[in-house]
Amino acid sequence: MSKMKLLIKNGHIINEDESFQADILCEGGKITQISKHIDQQLIDCDFIDARGKYLLPGGIDPHVHFHLPTKAGFSSDDFLSGSKAALFSGTTSIIDFVTPKKGQKLPDALKERLIEAKSCRCNYSFHISPIEWRDSLKEEISYCINKGYRTFKVYMAYKDSIGLDDSSLKKVMKVVAAEGGTITVHCEMGDEIEALRNKFISENKTSVEYHPLSRPNDTESRAVKKALELAKEASCPIYIVHVSTKESLRYIKQAKKLGQEVYAETCPQYLLLNDTKYIGDFYDTAKYVMSPPLRKEDDNLALWEALGDGTIDTMGTDHCPFSQSQKNNGHNDFRKIPNGAGGVEHRLKLLYTYGVLTSKITINQFVALTSTNAARIFGMLPDKGIIKVGADADITIWNPEANSTISGKNHFSRCDLEIYEGYTVKGNADFTILGGELKKSP
Ligand code: URP
Ligand code: ZN
Repeated sequence: MSKMKLLIKNGHIINEDESFQADILCEGGKITQISKHIDQQLIDCDFIDARGKYLLPGGIDPHVHFHLPTKAGFSSDDFLSGSKAALFSGTTSIIDFVTPKKGQKLPDALKERLIEAKSCRCNYSFHISPIEWRDSLKEEISYCINKGYRTFKVYMAYKDSIGLDDSSLKKVMKVVAAEGGTITVHCEMGDEIEALRNKFISENKTSVEYHPLSRPNDTESRAVKKALELAKEASCPIYIVHVSTKESLRYIKQAKKLGQEVYAETCPQYLLLNDTKYIGDFYDTAKYVMSPPLRKEDDNLALWEALGDGTIDTMGTDHCPFSQSQKNNGHNDFRKIPNGAGGVEHRLKLLYTYGVLTSKITINQFVALTSTNAARIFGMLPDKGIIKVGADADITIWNPEANSTISGKNHFSRCDLEIYEGYTVKGNADFTILGGELKKSP
């Protein structure tokens, strides 16, 4: 039984701007004391010895799709399985999406999504997607902001379903800016991609290798350029999701330099995997179908550099796995393969192993990229993203010595596919503290 008070002793606290050894006392879901030595004898509390461990602000994954409806069925993880996968691997907060049906008002879609998310075991919030322009959108956005949902996700791809044309994009950005929100954008030139996809199919080029060829680098980077220009014109803060190409980074870097309020996210798959994964048998390649697609090694390298120099602000996952049987829908037509792959449980391990341990980023940058920056951008600081007195007691107890190999046979996700199969990783969350309560994998 929890005593409601938890003392974490001897750990090494890592924030974005400092690292030091101290004890932490958690009470009533908050951090109430941080000090070189807190005497356990004086307090009636549960106790963890974190000697040799890092104490990180609980991870925040700003981009997941749990229980996402698609033509191939729902994504493999619902809010229960997805949040457990997050929690047991050091992520205490996720941000998912509210995607209304055509004609559905944003507040109604939000209410429905809140019911679906009731089984979520970690902290959660939503980005809300206006998928069409209508005059009532201003009031709808204002309602969402008043309820605490301040980010609005628009898609430049998927024009036949949820994507917006340029004129609607402009109007949405103006309204979001006027209401004090932030726009988040999936940047891909939807019409050009659709034309390329259809052209390949008409030429009987139906296999997985045509997925990346129908979404070349510049269909992302030109969309990034356009989104930045539109956001600037509308004076709207902009957050660009899953940046995957070196050319996009140049536009983002330039915009930041000129003082535009722009934030960028990438995901582990764009750092660690490349488009050679699309060559081969359908059953070996379909699991890598996601949008944007995996790119080339020089894109991987540019993204690593951008993590180090601050061009990229956050590490999301775009966790959106589908099973092999769902991927099979596109066996004879790559357009019908549901887009997406999992990763919520691997984000910290992968970035720690391939970023911190290779000295591409520091341990403090690791914390900024996996927690603090998302907390800052999405209005959760100072409650989350930081270990300090008064903050929420969301803490990851990180074992830097743990060794493991990623496999679909033992991952937490319900999906039978694993894009990081066989990756060896060092470092793992021994425990996660969520609102002062200890969470450990079964
Ligand atoms: O392929 C992806 N990324 N699937 C999830 C939906 C999206 O586009 O973010
Ligand atoms: Zn996504």
